[in-house]
Amino acid sequence: MPALVLLGAQWGDEGKGKATDLLGGSVDYVVRYQGGNNAGHTVVVGDQKYALHLLPSGILSPGCTPVIGNGVVVDPSVLLSELSGLNERGVDTSKLLISGNAHIITPYNVTVDKVTERFLGKRKIGTTGRGIGPTYADKINRVGIRVQDLYDESILTQKVEAALDVKNQMLTKLYNRRAIAVGQVVEELLGYADKLAPYVADTVLVLNEALEQDKVVLFEGGQGTLLDIDHGTYPFVTSSNPTAGGACTGAGVGPTKISRVIGILKAYTTRVGAGPFPTELFDEDGEALRRIGGERGVTTGRDRRCGWFDAVIARYATRVNGLTDFFLTKLDVLTGWEQIPVCVAYEIDGKRVEELPYSQTDFHHAKPVYEMLPGWNEDISKAKSFSDLPKNAQAYVKALEEMSGAPISAIGVGPGRTETIEINSFL
Ligand code: GDP
Ligand code: IMO
Ligand code: MG
Repeated sequence: MPALVLLGAQWGDEGKGKATDLLGGSVDYVVRYQGGNNAGHTVVVGDQKYALHLLPSGILSPGCTPVIGNGVVVDPSVLLSELSGLNERGVDTSKLLISGNAHIITPYNVTVDKVTERFLGKRKIGTTGRGIGPTYADKINRVGIRVQDLYDESILTQKVEAALDVKNQMLTKLYNRRAIAVGQVVEELLGYADKLAPYVADTVLVLNEALEQDKVVLFEGGQGTLLDIDHGTYPFVTSSNPTAGGACTGAGVGPTKISRVIGILKAYTTRVGAGPFPTELFDEDGEALRRIGGERGVTTGRDRRCGWFDAVIARYATRVNGLTDFFLTKLDVLTGWEQIPVCVAYEIDGKRVEELPYSQTDFHHAKPVYEMLPGWNEDISKAKSFSDLPKNAQAYVKALEEMSGAPISAIGVGPGRTETIEINSFL
């Protein structure tokens, strides 16, 4: 059973970095398949904490080959500084492979992201400002720059010219900004070519050959199901497919190769940026979840919006991803509440609705229907097996599993690698 997908089941920041790192020691490849440095994946190893943005979390496992797939958008300056930051901390990054077909986030994509948000005003998405949306837009418009273009100056120049043609009109005439010079962009991009060259590879071939040899490949999603461009809360989403199908297109591996799809699920819910969030809390409970859970963005430093667990969303994630398992994270954060509300359904315009409505208007009107589950006060951070958990914590996990539609195969009780209860083995 060689290929597994590990992805966010909510709005991102579920603990994908920790879960990937936990499996990293037992897999041969860890592959990012979408998104870019909008992601912030935290890995805690002993007393060392790492925040990874573009690099797959497998980079911290010496036996594992980290791969940036064709579906990822790569900001070369961020990538190089992430690599040198890890090298300074003694991490060997020499095994990294980057797809030659991955698209490059150019400086003008970052500019367009920022001006677009500014002009949207009240209606802004709250993007990370990293140029993600505009880079994917260029890809779809067929004016994107790919990693392989760095190795042909003439083609690169033609492509940058084509991309800037319309953008400069827009920047100068609509947004009142200065035009961006083609030569300057080309020079900057060429400056990355030699530094990236050792890593660039035909990753589709590498991964498929690895799978043929029964090597274990783990696909690490960025963002989360509800931020998916097709299946998320559009337009308040990111511009890629974090859902399971994205692993196939974003890495060039067929769906028949994937045997396990693991949804990372926080024991409550968080969201960064704008958009609907039915269980969001604006009271001291929300404040407490933020404080105890350390809910501050790894990439932008923004406070995360916090709310209770939403089983409607979890069921939806099971369906659109074909989840085989859940990895429930941050159960320890819920210690100390007398009762814990869990959203089991929505009330929309007076009607009870069990499944996520496809209509944006309905979702905006969704009010959570809560069931109260009894809480616990015991410290659970040292629990090693399910039976070590207090009865009420066990019941909370079982209730979530029942409502969410897939077995909970691991439980996080702290940020560290070892602070995990493994119930069913993933490998
Ligand atoms: P990602 O983007 O999905 O990788 O998640 P982030 O790294 O953005 O946010 C998850 C945060 O929760 C990080 O600070 C992790 O160190 C932390 N974390 C992960 N799992 C657990 C857990 O089970 N318990 C606690 N207390 N913290 C956790
Ligand atoms: P990880 O991988 C949480 C959100 C942004 C914004 C929306 C669009 O750490 O879970 P973008 O810059 O992608 O165009 O912004 O998506 N967003 C995330 N929220 N975790 C992330 O990544 C996110 N990446 C993007 O806040 O609402
Ligand atoms: Mg994150």
